[in-house]
Amino acid sequence: MKTLVLVFHPDMSASRANRLLAAKAETLGNDVTVRYMYDLYPDQKVDVAAEQAALEAADRVVLQFPMYWYSTPALLKQWQDDVLLYGWAYGSTGKELLVAVSTGGPGDAYSHESSYGYTLTELLRPLQATANMVQMTYLEPFTTTGTLTITDEALAKRAEDYAATLQSTDLPVLEPRG
Ligand SMILES: Cc1cc2nc3c(=O)[nH]c(=O)nc-3n(C[C@H](O)[C@H](O)[C@H](O)COP(=O)(O)O)c2cc1C
Repeated sequence: MKTLVLVFHPDMSASRANRLLAAKAETLGNDVTVRYMYDLYPDQKVDVAAEQAALEAADRVVLQFPMYWYSTPALLKQWQDDVLLYGWAYGSTGKELLVAVSTGGPGDAYSHESSYGYTLTELLRPLQATANMVQMTYLEPFTTTGTLTITDEALAKRAEDYAATLQSTDLPVLEPRG
């Protein structure tokens, strides 16, 4: 399975969580390709043909990013707007989409009863709906929560979990209304 990991972090030199996860992904061999999107497109001008070619070569697309304002960094939205063109994007049918998101807030704050009031699954619905629209299979997101306080040990464990997730060919699917 060819896996394409698109990392959307505006400042990898200041990153702790996403840098470790991306570095782990880079060790997984030729079937896993990692692209650092803010390095490629510092001016936010996405090379549509290059990105579409990268997508076409992949069986699984991973969108890896830190949560910003309960959403994605801006370049990920730009990538969606530019690359997922109507008509072309339907060529994505059958590919898998995995969201790998990190949050500063603790995991248990993302619930109806707690401070943020919404689950991560709910906040990620626009990406799920987009996957559904272009007929990609939306996998259960891989979440790394509480990054403001996470220990090095726990983060290293999360990176191992990420490697296992990226290498698994049988990940759980989140159904359209799941
Ligand atoms: C502009 C900005 C907005 C953020 N918004 C959120 C947010 O809505 N929820 C949250 O849990 N963390 C938020 N954070 C914290 C980041 O998600 C957190 O620092 C990041 O996941 C850590 O990953 P890194 O070590 O790779 O930078 C925000 C951080 C920044 C800089």
